[in-house]
Parts: sequence; structure tokens; C-alpha cells
Amino acid sequence: MTDAIIKEEIISSSDKISSYNIIVLKIVNSTNSYIKELAKNNTPHETLVIADKQTEGRGRLGRDFFSPEGTGIYMSVLLKPDYLTLDPSLLTVAAGVAVCRTINSISKNTPTIKWVNDIFVGGKKVCGILAESMTDSTSGTINNIIVGIGLNVTTPSDVFPGKLGDIAGSLFPENTTRNEIIAKIIEEFKSIYDSKDVEKLIEEYKNYSCVLGKKISFTKNGEAFTGIANDINMDGNLIAELDSGETISLKSGEVSLGSENFVE
Ligand code: BTN
Repeated sequence: MTDAIIKEEIISSSDKISSYNIIVLKIVNSTNSYIKELAKNNTPHETLVIADKQTEGRGRLGRDFFSPEGTGIYMSVLLKPDYLTLDPSLLTVAAGVAVCRTINSISKNTPTIKWVNDIFVGGKKVCGILAESMTDSTSGTINNIIVGIGLNVTTPSDVFPGKLGDIAGSLFPENTTRNEIIAKIIEEFKSIYDSKDVEKLIEEYKNYSCVLGKKISFTKNGEAFTGIANDINMDGNLIAELDSGETISLKSGEVSLGSENFVE
């Protein structure tokens, strides 16, 4: 089966994403970087850029996101805060839930989310999300939000370079094209950010979480901590009880499960 990314096939896969301005590229440095350039020239709310390959795919915390040709979904959504019902700070959470709903609908495997936005299937990371914002230089307010989603669909395990091979995996869905997956993720994402139901979103996010109730480790301002992840609050922050007994709320960063190594 050929699985080319084709704009018309994405559009015909969902009747709920007709408001979207969709751009499909064969190759790009990074869809997040590309869409940021577009945004400087007044690109509309709900622009979606998808590439078949990225040469400089970016992850969180300055990492690279491996983005080989033809086997993944590398896409970025541009949203304008003025048009959003949902608080922009919850867009990462919303995108994570949208990807998990999509995985549930196309695969027998159950996805889990490692706070804040790494999605795992069968113990391997299949998806990462990188949200970035742009600020209007005159008013100082955020005028563009970019949500980048990278999903390994059929990337073979032996193609991931170096240590990534131990961590990353792919979805290998049966009978589903990348076009259908893209359409479903965007449909679910839109239905969440057009809704006001934060409680339902957080509840769903918590159900997908693989960190709640677990021992975690993380660093904050260069200091190492361990504790138990107890809750995710209505702002999407992770609430942890530290070994010292103190309760702490984490807004961003990265946690590791158990006593693995950790990075902020
Ligand atoms: C992470 O795992 O730390 C986040 C990875 C985000 C990757 C996506 S792929 C599409 C978009 N363009 C990028 O350069 N990064 C995001």
C-alpha cells in the first residue's frame, strides 16, 4: 500500500476539519520552524503544515526529533489565542489526549502519556509534542501558538539511530493511512480546544497517565528530587509529594520514572 501524504485525502478523511488551511511538504527543516516563518506574514488560525521528512526536527529541551522520510507524521498546527475557547496553556495536554484517542481508534495497543507530553505504546515512545509561542513585539502578548506533533507510524526499530533505538518505537497501525491518522488527530484536537470542558480533558489525560501513583525523579533549578506523582491539576501541572514530605507543583520539565536518570 502506498502511503503518501496527500492534502485531498486528509480533507476527505474528516468532515470536521474543513476550517483548516493545510500545507503538505515533501521535505522541510522543521514544520515548527516553517510555520513560525509563515506566522510572521499573518497566516490564519488553524493552519496545518505536514512534512514527509524533516532534516532538523526539534524536540523539547533542545533535543532532536528523528524524522525519516515516508514513515512518520511530522506536523505543526498554528493557532491564534483570540480564537481559542481553551486556555492556551492546556494545548499540549489537549494534543496529547487527541493523539491517544486516535491511537485507541486505530490500534489494539493502549497508549499512555508520560507527563507532560511523551506518548508511549508497548513501552516505547511513539510520539512527542513540542508547543511553542510567538509574542507580538508591540503589545507583548502571545499572538501565535505552534503545536508540533511527531508520530512514528511505520519507522522500523533498526532505523532509529544510536540509543534512540532503545527508547523509540512505532505504531504500525493496520489498514490506516497516514492521511487518516492526521485527519483524526486534528479532528480530536479541534474538538478539545473548541470546548470549555477542562475537567473532562484533565480527567481523560489522567486516565492515560503512566506516572500517577509512581515514584518519579526530576531536577528543578539544578537540584535533584525524588517523590511520588500524586495528581495532575486543572492547569496540567504535575503534583508530586517529595521524599521530604513537601508537596510540589511542576509546570514544565521532564520527569523520569523510578530511579532512571533525569534531565530538566
Ligand atoms: C519531543 O519529543 O521532545 C517533542 C517532539 C516534537 C516533534 C515534532 S515533529 C513536528 C514538529 N516539528 C518539529 O521540529 N518538532 C515537532
